[in-house]
Amino acid sequence: MHPTIFTLFALSLAALEVYAKLQNVTVKGVTMCDGKRVANVHVMLLEKDALDADDNLASAHTNEEGEFELFGEDDEIGSIEPLIRIHHTCDAKPGCERISEYLVPEDKIGGFYDMTYVTLDIKTAEDKIKCQ
Ligand SMILES: *[C@@H]1O[C@H](CO)[C@@H](O)[C@H](O)[C@H]1NC(C)=O
Repeated sequence: MHPTIFTLFALSLAALEVYAKLQNVTVKGVTMCDGKRVANVHVMLLEKDALDADDNLASAHTNEEGEFELFGEDDEIGSIEPLIRIHHTCDAKPGCERISEYLVPEDKIGGFYDMTYVTLDIKTAEDKIKCQ
């Protein structure tokens, strides 16, 4: 390769490195319904992506104590916008499930987000109902 072209190539690679960087977040919490801890609730950590369908970064089920902890990382240009999606039946009609979403605050990216108690009774801005 010609030295100048090589330099340009190296510079553009370096620029991509800067823009698309690997970012992570750890989220933990305890799911609650009607004042009780809820075991075996499906919790997902997703990247809210405008173009793709939301990327799944990690998922888990809450333990006997209703606790979950998820670590996810993603390569994005700009800042990642992770969200927590929980499938549960708290306050849902028989045969239905609720899907509640919670955004991870931007200042928690690269660190730790402790949601403490996640009260599933309270409807979030992004709350959906799915019935069979
Ligand atoms: C998560 O991101 C932070 C900030 O960029 C970094 O210091 C840390 O090493 C990363 N943690 C892991 C487990 O990759």
